[in-house]
Amino acid sequence: MNIHVLNSYEKMSQYAAHMIEAQMQKKHDSVLGLATGGTPEGLYKELIRRFQEGRVDFKEAETFNLDEYIGLGQAHPQSYSYYMWSRFFSHVNIDRTRIYLPFSKSAEDTDALAEYDIQLQEVGGIDLQLLGIGQNGHIGFNEPGSFLRADTHYVDLSLETVEANARFFSTEEDVPKQAITMGMAPILQARSILLLASGKTKARAVKEMLQSAISPQHPASFLQLHSSVDLVLDAEAAMEL
Ligand code: GLP
Repeated sequence: MNIHVLNSYEKMSQYAAHMIEAQMQKKHDSVLGLATGGTPEGLYKELIRRFQEGRVDFKEAETFNLDEYIGLGQAHPQSYSYYMWSRFFSHVNIDRTRIYLPFSKSAEDTDALAEYDIQLQEVGGIDLQLLGIGQNGHIGFNEPGSFLRADTHYVDLSLETVEANARFFSTEEDVPKQAITMGMAPILQARSILLLASGKTKARAVKEMLQSAISPQHPASFLQLHSSVDLVLDAEAAMEL
């Protein structure tokens, strides 16, 4: 893995934006796997700025988001769909027919799962997958456990994840307890991976991603098997390395 340590969140976001800009210049119709959460907010702002300056063009891009809560509805301000539209899609020239978001009203809706995997296959997989990392080492919502799944699936969120994400909601009770997530296959089959981590709450997860045995107890450790991973960290996230 290529490890890039930047001395601030702003620098980290700029560095990551530069990598996405380079990807879009190399391949105008890149398939981008996109992530949500607090970490990439600065990156999306930086990409919008670069788009406004004419440095990057998303007209031919195709995007697949990693995950979504179940039960919030796409118009809910904490849904990942709302996040993507308000923080990125509405501000750039992306074609809305090329935006794919995993969405399901309920965990009984198995058609939504299969459809997402078919859509991923039809575009030929992901060129660049953007990832964050959970404090417990999850990627997307692939939570630590005794096994991981390859395909898009429903997941019961761990207590640690619910607690970590409670900061975005009024109370912990409001955090959805279930989600839909892309599985490990499209992530690990992405032609390149760009993982961002910021802050000392991520330092242990970053260290384990790099140094622990590859195990479903630490989903991000599977990135050790991938031949093109860039980790873009701020100094706090890198402090245990
Ligand atoms: C969230 C999301 C992930 C995200 C990770 C880190 O729960 N499911 O896609 O990458 O956890 O989130 P944050 O950047 O807010 O710390």
